[in-house]
Amino acid sequence: MAQFVCKPGNNVRGMIRVPGDKSISHRSIILSSIAEGSSQISGFLQGEDSLNTIKAFQQMGVSIEREQDQVTVIGAGLHGLNKPVADLDMGNSGTAMRLLLGLLAGQAFDTRLIGDSSLSSRPMQRVIQPLQMMGALIESEPGGRAPLQIRGNSELHAIDYDMPVASAQVKSCLLLAGLYANGETVVREPAPTRDHSERMLRGFGCELSSHQSEIRVRGAQVLTARDVEVPADISSAAFFMVAASIADESEITLQHVGVNPTRTGVIDILKLMGANIELVNQRDIGGEPVADIRVTGARLKGIDIPLHLVPLAIDEFPVLFIAAACADGTTRLSGAEELRVKESDRIQVMADGLVTLGIEAQTQTGGIIIQGGELAGGEVESHGDHRIAMAFSVASLRAKDEIHINDCANVNTSFPGFVELARTAGIRISTNDQ
Ligand code: S3P
Repeated sequence: MAQFVCKPGNNVRGMIRVPGDKSISHRSIILSSIAEGSSQISGFLQGEDSLNTIKAFQQMGVSIEREQDQVTVIGAGLHGLNKPVADLDMGNSGTAMRLLLGLLAGQAFDTRLIGDSSLSSRPMQRVIQPLQMMGALIESEPGGRAPLQIRGNSELHAIDYDMPVASAQVKSCLLLAGLYANGETVVREPAPTRDHSERMLRGFGCELSSHQSEIRVRGAQVLTARDVEVPADISSAAFFMVAASIADESEITLQHVGVNPTRTGVIDILKLMGANIELVNQRDIGGEPVADIRVTGARLKGIDIPLHLVPLAIDEFPVLFIAAACADGTTRLSGAEELRVKESDRIQVMADGLVTLGIEAQTQTGGIIIQGGELAGGEVESHGDHRIAMAFSVASLRAKDEIHINDCANVNTSFPGFVELARTAGIRISTNDQ
C-alpha cells in the first residue's frame, strides 16, 4: 500500500511530457486487433489499465509486441479473435470493461470479464441493458456488477438508442457491438462526450456518420490497419495545469498534449477561474488535435461551473477541486452525479480529504460547494483512486504542513512515473511503501 508524503510549498517549472492518453491507448489496441494488417502504435500509455487491454487481446490470440511505448499489432480481422483460455482481467479499468463487453457480445465464443474490487462495484447495467436489446447474452452479479459472463454466437441486431447518461464508454461499447450487428446501429447522446472512438474508427476506414448528437454505424465493415500516434493525456497534464496555476512564480510547458475539444473542459474551467493558460504550436496528429500547453501562476477565483462543461472535464474534477480550494470565494459544481461512480465516489472522497485539510466542502447528490481557504496539512485517504492521490499531492504546493496520502499504488493505472515527474517539476513528493 504505497503512501505519498508531500512536503509543503514550492512551485512548478520546466518543460515536461506526461504519458500517453489512456482513452486513445485502449482504443488503439482494440481497433488494431480487429483490423486487417499490421498497425504501429507510438506514445502508448504504459499504465496498468492499457497494459491489461493488450493482455486481453493477446489472450484472444492477437499478436501484439511492445517495446516501451511502441506497440506493433498484427490485426486478426473482425472475426479472427479466438476464445481465451482464462478470464479477461480488466483490473481497475471501467473503459476496458465496457468497451470490451461491446466487442465480446459479437464474438462466436464465450468469455468472462473480471476486475478488481473497485471495478466489481461499478455499474455495468448501462451497457448490459442496450447490449441485451441488441440480442447479446450477458450474465452479471446482482445489480449489474462484474464479473460478467458473455455467451458467444448470439445474433446481434442494430438498435436505435437514446443514451440516458452522457458516457463515452457506453457510446463506444455500442459502436463496437454495432460492427457485429445486422443493420445500422444509431446512438444518441444527451450531451457531447469524448469522440476518440468515432475519430479512430474513421481512421481505420470505417464508415461512420456523426451529426450533432447522433452517431450511426453499419455492421460487418472491414477495418484497415493504420499507424496511431498517441498524444500526451490531457487528464494527466491537468495535474500540472492546476499545480502551475495555484503556486506563485510557476511556469510550465506541457508538451504534445491531446486537445480534442471533447476533452478540454478543464482548460475552459480553469480559464473561467482566472488561470493563465496558453495553447501553442497547435497541430493535428492522425485526426486528433495536439498542442503544447503553457501555464503560469495566477490568482484564481471561485466560479459556478457551467453544466455543459461537466462531461468535457469529467476526469479532471478531483484536481479542479484543489484549484477551487485555493481560489478566492466559492466554487459550485452540479450535474456531476457520474463522479460518484468513478474509480471511487469522487465527490465524497474529495470532500472528506478537503475537510481534513481544513477546507469547507459541502457535498450534494450531483456536486459539491467548495469555499476557497488555507490548506493545512494532514493524512488523507485516496481509496485506491489514482486521480484522488495525484490531486492531493498537487495540493501540497499550497499547504502549510505535510500531506500524507494513503493507498496510492493505483497511480500506476494511468500515470506511471508520476512521482518522479512531479518531483522534477517541483512538487516535493516521495513514496513510502507501507
Ligand atoms: C472514458 C470515458 C469517461 C472517463 C473515463 C474514460 C473513455 O467515462 O471517465 O476515464 O475512454 O471512454 P464515461 O464515458 O463513462 O463518463
